[in-house]
Amino acid sequence: MTESSRTAAADWWRQASVYQIYPRSFADANGDGIGDLKGITSKVGYLQELGIEAVWLSPFYPSELADGGYDVADYRDVDPKIGTLADFDEMTAALHAAGIKVIVDIVPNHTSDQHEWFQEALAAPKGSDARDRYIFREGKGENGELPPNNWTSIFGGPAWERITEPDGTPGQWYFHLFAKEQPDLNWDRRDVRDDFLKTLRFWSDRGVDGFRIDVAHSLTKNLDEAYDALTTILGDWSIFEDGQHPIWDRDEVHEIYAEWREVFNSYDPPRTAVAEAWVPKPHRRARYASPESLGQAFNFDLLVADFDAAEFRKIISENLEFATESGSSTTWVFSNHDVVRHATRYGLPSVHGGLNDGFSGGNNGKQWLLDGGDPAAVDVELGLRRAKAATALMLALPGSAYLYQGEELGLQEAGQIPDADRQDPAFFRNPGVDIGRDGCRVPLPWEPTGSALGFGAGTAHLPQPEWFADYAASAQEADAGSTLAFYRRALALRGELQTEEVLAWEETGAADVLHFSRPGGWHVVTNFGAEPVELPAGEILLTSTPLVDGKLPADSTAWLKR
Ligand code: GLC
Ligand code: CA
Repeated sequence: MTESSRTAAADWWRQASVYQIYPRSFADANGDGIGDLKGITSKVGYLQELGIEAVWLSPFYPSELADGGYDVADYRDVDPKIGTLADFDEMTAALHAAGIKVIVDIVPNHTSDQHEWFQEALAAPKGSDARDRYIFREGKGENGELPPNNWTSIFGGPAWERITEPDGTPGQWYFHLFAKEQPDLNWDRRDVRDDFLKTLRFWSDRGVDGFRIDVAHSLTKNLDEAYDALTTILGDWSIFEDGQHPIWDRDEVHEIYAEWREVFNSYDPPRTAVAEAWVPKPHRRARYASPESLGQAFNFDLLVADFDAAEFRKIISENLEFATESGSSTTWVFSNHDVVRHATRYGLPSVHGGLNDGFSGGNNGKQWLLDGGDPAAVDVELGLRRAKAATALMLALPGSAYLYQGEELGLQEAGQIPDADRQDPAFFRNPGVDIGRDGCRVPLPWEPTGSALGFGAGTAHLPQPEWFADYAASAQEADAGSTLAFYRRALALRGELQTEEVLAWEETGAADVLHFSRPGGWHVVTNFGAEPVELPAGEILLTSTPLVDGKLPADSTAWLKR
């Protein structure tokens, strides 16, 4: 390899399009109702035709599924319900052969309560090393019957759970930011740090190209009693921008990532990482994206924004600036496994004043779910139209674009899942306040008919609504006007037009029309307004909605070559 091709190979992530797979809901090869690694391998052709550069797999590790796999019992194995390490190697080889990189999810804030370390901690005495790997404290009250403080977990309910000591007496309490099956690790410990370094090497040695780091901003903590009185501490963190919040985004978390960076850089090409860090200010996010830290960070600003020209423009400009300052490229995303699908969010009656709490995905998605998730309350046509316009805009931006399985089919959120079928702990821990995230995790419709709509021979682990049949991949493959055809064309063109990581805003003379250009004559116009607009002269390469009398209709994006 020459020096410059080595750099090019090392930089693959800077402007990649990455497709997120939620493995349990992608494709089920053995018909037990749960998606599996062989299922993913069977769809490599589909992924290649889609034109993405990498896949990111949500956790496939052994798990009791208290939180959809984000409760990991063993970081260096595959869940037997999903496959084997041999299946993983086979899948990786097939994806690599198709030119697709592999990113896996690392969940360092907490283990599963089934992890051998936690089981050891339960069996070991107070004050032992085994207990110290987690966050154990004595309870308050006469007999320690009250939690150490009143903090509530992210999924609702107390952030502390009491254990039974090995001698059968009621005992200490442990801290969990998320569900009680997800005890938080104590990142002050060397053995905890070393074990994750080992995990990063384990997957890197197996050929994994990069890592997505779950809740990357929470590992180091200061559980000093001084903060106990602040009952909203886990939810309200906007007041802390100084790196001294007891839980979120503490400055010293980057000491951990500096060690990870050494591991990443010991491979050729260096392994990459992207931080999931819901920090409110781009300058705090930039720290995760620095080349000394994880290298890249999710930017959820467009995801929680209204479909609004001024808001989009401000977010784009700001993030490009911070990306340049941090030495990274920025990222963009509209949908993932934690939020209401954007084709649905954009079709909800009011796009203003939504509950942007991260897990709701903004734009009223959460409120709509609470109100019953009725598909009839969604303007499906408008939602999809705006979703395609937004995606076409995103795919033309400098930086990496993250796509979520099913969005290429224009899939809507499954808002109405019977309570008995729901799986998300956010639903169980927060009755009446949170419906949870199952609606975006329903198994994909591959065929318009047949068992689980082609997902697999068994009963899908989350029920597919009847209307899912209308979104089947096989039918869209045969239809040049389908959402799938649009995604394929956009991704192929993105590859051809890819250029330096900059954009220039062009004057449009209209507040609700954005126009930017990229080096090489790639022009992008998005009409956020209600009236069709004239396009500048040029060769039209792509439109998210067909032009009407040569004009770009409302809620649409066009790509031109000028
Ligand atoms: C992240 C994941 C989410 C999970 C949580 C706890 O936010 O994206 O799905 O529930 O972390 O691991
Ligand atoms: Ca299966």
